[in-house]
Amino acid sequence: TKTTLSVIKADIGSIAGHHKAHPDTLLAASRVLAEGKKKGIIADFYVTAIGDDIQLIMTHFRGVNDPQVHELAWSAFKEATSVAKDLGLYAAGQDLLSDTFSGNVRGLGPGVAELEFNERPSEPVAIFMADKTEPSAFNLPLYKIFADPFNTAGLVIDPKMHSGFVFTVLDLYEGKAVDLSTPEELYDLLALIGTTSRYVIKYVHRKDGEPAAVVSSERLNLIAGKYIGKDDPVMIVRLQSGFPALGEALEAFSFPHLVAGWMRGSHFGPLMPVGLKDAKMTRFDGPPRVLGLGFNIKAGRLVGPTDLFDDVAFDEVRRQAAEIADYMRRHGPFMPHRLGPEEMEYTTLPDVLKRLEGRFRPFDLGYRPIVKHEDLLE
Ligand code: 13P
Ligand code: 13P
Ligand code: MG
Ligand code: MG
Ligand code: MG
Repeated sequence: TKTTLSVIKADIGSIAGHHKAHPDTLLAASRVLAEGKKKGIIADFYVTAIGDDIQLIMTHFRGVNDPQVHELAWSAFKEATSVAKDLGLYAAGQDLLSDTFSGNVRGLGPGVAELEFNERPSEPVAIFMADKTEPSAFNLPLYKIFADPFNTAGLVIDPKMHSGFVFTVLDLYEGKAVDLSTPEELYDLLALIGTTSRYVIKYVHRKDGEPAAVVSSERLNLIAGKYIGKDDPVMIVRLQSGFPALGEALEAFSFPHLVAGWMRGSHFGPLMPVGLKDAKMTRFDGPPRVLGLGFNIKAGRLVGPTDLFDDVAFDEVRRQAAEIADYMRRHGPFMPHRLGPEEMEYTTLPDVLKRLEGRFRPFDLGYRPIVKHEDLLE
């Protein structure tokens, strides 16, 4: 039978702002999952957090989108929320957009990344979890891990990886997906995934169909139609023996690239790889951070974790990220530190424009502005 690894996450409130999940909420969620394990719904679990986001890492034999597994996750988040409310935690229940569960947590607020596969004799995986950013923050690292031979030596020298990978890219605005094969369609892939506000890599498969990686793709603001927090993402990557080596997956995070999120979900900032001890948000509610945990899965059992970025080898990346944070912050409310108006999660712009409506007067630009700025983007 196939094993499924499900990582389901939500922000159900945190201490002192959007800063850090409270240990009692993790405990409450763990208790629910322990009960689910006893009942045989899941085989094993591990509960962790980065910043204000709690991740339920679960293994089972029920496949993806299983109603029982999703219901278990939903009740774990509900229990954690009630603890958050008792403690008066900030934004308690933030990501739970509905009161009623109907068979699947997708579209209700939590982020979901699930992979079903035949376990290899040794099944190493890495789980990456980020706060103060969005799912497309993983576009660049995934490209590097599975398509860039300067990052991943295996693409060149491992016969099982040499033929490349297939990326499934979602168009989050129109609800469409396209499969792009690398290396053949590398430039087409980059043309899409460079537009991080719209296109997000959902899956990566090996050419023989083996699933290699999955990302949670929910965008809360697109679900709820208004700002209710960023959609801090999670990602699963299978490792070794025909997949990237652990070190090839981690290497993709050695460059602290700029991602959207950070303060009020409205700023670009560097993605800083951190260990559990630094898995909290401070400076300007960030900087955006990514946590990596390594596991082996054996007959559904989760062996581990190991705290992948808690290491001197990443000190220099963190220092560089801190320096970039300084540089970006000095722009204050100016783009491109602040996101463009279409992407900001908070905005006063419509109100400001309304108030100034009567005060804008015609001005001769010397040409007739027949093209609207938005039309140029089409
Ligand atoms: P070992 O020889 O230590 O197993 O390493 C193999 C490898 O692929 C390292 O990336
Ligand atoms: P979260 O999405 O992590 O809750 O962040 C919200 C925010 O506004 C941080 O400044
Ligand atoms: Mg929050
Ligand atoms: Mg968060
Ligand atoms: Mg969030």
